[in-house]
Amino acid sequence: MKRITLALNWKLYLNELQSIEFVERLNHSKDQFDNIDLEIYPSATAIRSVKNVLNNSSIKIGLQDFSIFENGAHTGSLSLSSIEVDSCIIGHSERRDFYKENDNLILKKLRISNDKKINTILCVGETLKEKEEGISKEKIKSQLSILKNLDIQIPLTIAYEPIWSIGTGSVPSNEYISDMLSTIKSELKALYSHEKNSAIKLFYGGSVDETNISNLSDISLLDGFLIGSAGSKFEKLINMVNSLV
Ligand code: PGA
Repeated sequence: MKRITLALNWKLYLNELQSIEFVERLNHSKDQFDNIDLEIYPSATAIRSVKNVLNNSSIKIGLQDFSIFENGAHTGSLSLSSIEVDSCIIGHSERRDFYKENDNLILKKLRISNDKKINTILCVGETLKEKEEGISKEKIKSQLSILKNLDIQIPLTIAYEPIWSIGTGSVPSNEYISDMLSTIKSELKALYSHEKNSAIKLFYGGSVDETNISNLSDISLLDGFLIGSAGSKFEKLINMVNSLV
């Protein structure tokens, strides 16, 4: 059976102390994570502490987002050079929505993570309105079209996250997700060689929790999950891991 990755996007759920407590609990339950790959995206302010406390080197730590400015006079910004990380998330729908990040900006960020050879999760997904209008696939294709301008050199993951599912408890059927992942696959096929494509992973994200992860893991195209709320609660994480074995 293929190894599933759980990527925990802690958003702004846990402060530094809460992040440390979570990681201490992880350290005590190390054996339970033998069969999955874990990535954690804490608040940037907690990354150093999380790395110091974590005693499991197979867990990757990443940035939830970063600025296109590398250094200099950019008050309040954070760049991929600010702190050493294994990976990063780009184009999360909350960034696209609240911070008005467009595909042009997202491409700039991708260029930076690509140049720095940092594993990257690129998020794509349609709104409820787009789904209802029957243009979900067009939306995904247009979000993926930025990849035409990039010779990808890094381990890339595409996270399919329908916006109407994030934080709502509303999860698409496995058939719907499979169909969207197939669309993503065929878009990638048109862009990259077979070798590059086989290294690109596909995740699903949106209201994943202990009640649905086992069923969702039946989707054959999936390599893992990008998990928000449920991944910030330790008991829920343990329940999700247990329901995967
Ligand atoms: P959720 O968030 O699991 O809380 O729905 C997922 C995400 O935003 O990546």
